[in-house]
Amino acid sequence: MRLDIDKLRAYYADAPDDLSLSDIDLDRIPAHVSIIMDGNGRWATARGLDRSRGHVAGVDALREAVTTSVRLGLDALSVYAFSTENWRRPKREVDLLMHLFATTLVKELPLFHQENVRLRFLGDLTALPEKTRTVFQRGLDETADHTGMTFALAVNYGSRAELARAARELAADVAAGKIAPEDVDEEAVAAHLYTAGLPDPDLLIRTSGEMRLSNYLLWQLAYTEFYVTPTLWPDFGRWDFLRAVAAFQGRSRRYGGVVSS
Ligand code: FPP
Repeated sequence: MRLDIDKLRAYYADAPDDLSLSDIDLDRIPAHVSIIMDGNGRWATARGLDRSRGHVAGVDALREAVTTSVRLGLDALSVYAFSTENWRRPKREVDLLMHLFATTLVKELPLFHQENVRLRFLGDLTALPEKTRTVFQRGLDETADHTGMTFALAVNYGSRAELARAARELAADVAAGKIAPEDVDEEAVAAHLYTAGLPDPDLLIRTSGEMRLSNYLLWQLAYTEFYVTPTLWPDFGRWDFLRAVAAFQGRSRRYGGVVSS
C-alpha cells in the first residue's frame, strides 16, 4: 500500500452530501482498477459540440482518474482508449484520437515523473501512426524506472486478437520444441497476454451506462467486480471514482467458492 493519508485527505477535502472519504475502508482499496471510458461523443453532442471536443474533455477526466488512482494507492490503473474496432470510425475522428494520444502523453509526462507512475501499453502498437508510436516509446523509456503505480493504456487493443496472438506464440513455442503441449496452462496463457505481470483487475468501471465488455480484457476480467454508471466519461470525477470503490467494497467476492465469514 503506497497511500499517503495526508495527501489523500487533502485531495478529498471537498465532499459532496452523499459521500465522504470515511465511507471507504482504506485497507480494502482495489489493487487494480480498469475503466472503459465511454460517452465522450454523447457528452459533446448533448452540448451541440463536435465529438472531438468530447475526447478533449475526456483527457481531463483521464488525468483526474490517474491522480485519483495514485492518491488511493492503487498498484495499477488500466483504461480502454482505442479498440481494434475503433478504426471503423470516421478518419477525421481516428486522426484526432491518434494526435490526442501523442500530445497528451508528452504533456502528462511531468505528472508521471512527479507521481512515480510507470507507463505501459496494451495492444498492437505497430498499426499506429509513427509519431504516436515514437511518443509512446518515449513514455515507456522515460518511466521505465518508476516504481509507483502502473498506468496501462489499451490502444489498438482487442481481447480476441490478444488471445489469438497468445495462442499463436504458444503454438510456435511448441512447434519449436521449447515447451510441451502440457505446458500450455492458464499461467502460460496469461504470460503471453499484453497484461503479463499485471494483477487481474479487481474492479471494472464502465461509464455512460452501456452493459457490455466490448472485447475488453475477456480473460483478465474473469472474477472482476463490474460497476456501471450512467455518468458520461468527461463528467466522471474523483467522487464518482470513490463511489465505484464504495460499491466494490459492498460486494462479496467468492471466486466461484462460498462466502467467507
Ligand atoms: C469513448 O467515447 C471514448 C473513446 C473511444 C476514446 C477514449 C479517449 C479519451 C478518453 C481521450 C484521450 C485519451 C488518452 C489516452 C489521451 P465514445 O466516442 O465512444 O462516446 P459515445 O459512445 O458517446 O459515442
